[in-house]
Amino acid sequence: MSKPDTLPVARLTEAEAAGELARLAGEIAAHDQAYYQLDAPTIADAEYDALRQRNEAIEARFPALKRPDSPSERIGAPVAEGFAKVRHGRPMLSLGNAFEAADVADFLARVRRFLKLAEEEIIDIVAEPKIDGLSAALRYEDGKLTLGATRGDGEEGEDITANLRTIAEIPGSLDGAPAVFEVRGEVFMPHAAFRALNAQQAEAGRQAYANPRNAAAGSLRQLDATITAGRQLSFRAYAWGETSELPATTHFGVLAALRQWGFRVQEETRLCRDLDEMLAFHAEMEAARSRMPYDIDGIVYKVDRLDWQQRLGAAGRSPRWAVAHKFAAEKARTRVKAIEIQVGRTGKLTPVARLEPVTVGGVVVTNATLHNQDYIADKDIRIGDTVLVQRAGDVIPQVLAVVPDQRPPGARPFVFPETCPECGSRAGREEGEVDWRCGGGLVCQAQAVERLRHFVSRDAFDIEGLGERQIRAFFEDGLVRQPADIFTLRERDAEAEAPLREKDGWGETSVANLFAAIEQRRRIGLDRLILALGIRHVGQGNARLLARTYGTLKNFLAAIEQSAPREGEAWQELLDIDGIGEAVAGALLDFFGEAHNAQAWRDLLAQLDVQPVAMPSVAGSAVAGKTLVFTGTLEQTTRQEAKARAEALGAKVSGSVSRKTDLVVAGPGAGSKLRKAEELNIEVISEDEWLALIAV
Ligand code: IVH
Repeated sequence: MSKPDTLPVARLTEAEAAGELARLAGEIAAHDQAYYQLDAPTIADAEYDALRQRNEAIEARFPALKRPDSPSERIGAPVAEGFAKVRHGRPMLSLGNAFEAADVADFLARVRRFLKLAEEEIIDIVAEPKIDGLSAALRYEDGKLTLGATRGDGEEGEDITANLRTIAEIPGSLDGAPAVFEVRGEVFMPHAAFRALNAQQAEAGRQAYANPRNAAAGSLRQLDATITAGRQLSFRAYAWGETSELPATTHFGVLAALRQWGFRVQEETRLCRDLDEMLAFHAEMEAARSRMPYDIDGIVYKVDRLDWQQRLGAAGRSPRWAVAHKFAAEKARTRVKAIEIQVGRTGKLTPVARLEPVTVGGVVVTNATLHNQDYIADKDIRIGDTVLVQRAGDVIPQVLAVVPDQRPPGARPFVFPETCPECGSRAGREEGEVDWRCGGGLVCQAQAVERLRHFVSRDAFDIEGLGERQIRAFFEDGLVRQPADIFTLRERDAEAEAPLREKDGWGETSVANLFAAIEQRRRIGLDRLILALGIRHVGQGNARLLARTYGTLKNFLAAIEQSAPREGEAWQELLDIDGIGEAVAGALLDFFGEAHNAQAWRDLLAQLDVQPVAMPSVAGSAVAGKTLVFTGTLEQTTRQEAKARAEALGAKVSGSVSRKTDLVVAGPGAGSKLRKAEELNIEVISEDEWLALIAV
């Protein structure tokens, strides 16, 4: 096989780039087949990585040229397949963001309110620089490192123990740690190591890494740990997962213990007593940022007292006791080459600016979202304009403003299309809405493909081997037009004249694996199923809420059916789910009320075995599975904390009293809800009784 072409990516013309992408797609596919299906690699790992990196770099420069069979989209790449999956004992959460001082003040106020702390009570906060790397979890048993994993989706990561062991700053054994202790922290590549690595890459004719974070990620995901060992990665500890015991009662105290056991903890970490001290630290670090030997992108504030952290808990995927205060985003100037419209799964038309590639904070930016018609009009963004773009953290780059005196003569205001660029249907923009939507509904292929993609995505059906590329190809071949078709694919393939295994990119093994993965997913949780439908406003949070409230498919279907008139008890009950409002409930009914959807849904159900979703059952909890209502004033906790506690113990919290209510917790000032509870003979308890009930 030929060696990677050494023509630098930055100098490729568009035609050359297209040719290179075609060559790389073919070559990488051949290597993949040799590796996975024949188990006989024809190329060294490092050379293979170089091919992939070059492919990605070209795609980053010419996103429009990305091929439907691009290796970067292909599932079955060694990076995704090579490591065993590991389920995290405690989920690895992510942080909410604060951008301005006011957001930080809000964070403190939220903590104070949630805990019902008096104004003069001091909330100690630990402030840590936020390193821009990758988080990792390290499990120590009897002081010995037994498992190292990536964060993955927070619930499940990859076992990269061998790679993590090669990092000098990760001790193989700890001195004085408890029986079980899972340390969490950041793996990153300091600037000096990054520069040295890229110089090496260049010497070897390989593509440079775009930034230290990518370099760290690429280095960690090497199947051959000796490659990781050659990269100078660093590690700082800042959190923990499962532990048999804790060495302190404050975050700061645990950090000190971690240091004593042999970890590096960020030296700059500071204990702050109020907002001013927090903001001063932020300003100090932002000024020091460019002199730091590694990338930091903000400050993480954490409530120091661990008992408070425990009470605060998490909302969704982020803890209430911590927040990331980002540094100001980095900006750059570039030119808008074109404005294109993307069609989403609900038909939303999103304008995107195609940009002359420009480096912003170490990352090459080629696209920026323009959000909607008004955004373009307000900023008067025109094709050919020079614009200021900003990239903040991992967010999609934004166009901040146009540089007016650089506008080329003849540039015209952008005219937003009134038809869908994919299917030609009329688009519409409803009164009071900012988005245009394609009116093609079920005939719009772009929407259909996006819906199928969503259906198989990670949080929904998560079918291994069925990614964007395969969905698109199956759709185009007429093999999969709606979700149910996925589950009849094998049957139809057995009788097909041209079975899948004879098609380009497929072989005996990959087809067998795909069918096995599909079979496995016939059994599916109600929450994943609801999410997979792609109903407007129904994301993971609402899907879980609905699944937990109704428990079984049967109950859920009955509730939908009985709610159809948008009045009556079932409808009211739907609206009573704390977190579901008219918009969500309406979208649900709209979805099932649509004849095509209803048919597609019946066809799908015929293929599935839907599993009930239980409330998180909590051993010994007196309220697990019960429906509670809080009313009146709570004096010792806040409504928010009470609700969070109740839910954590497996109860449902409702906003109104009905026959389904099991228990009402009433404080002073309780009115109509209390009367209704008494009428219905529902048990009513005071806040004190509530606290006694849930005390462990
Ligand atoms: S704490 C429960 N502390 O930021 C909170 N995270 O969005 C878990 N990060 O995935 C994270 N420095 O990769 C924490 N001092 C720090 C951090 C830090 C960097 C990263 C980490 C995490 C992400 C959170």
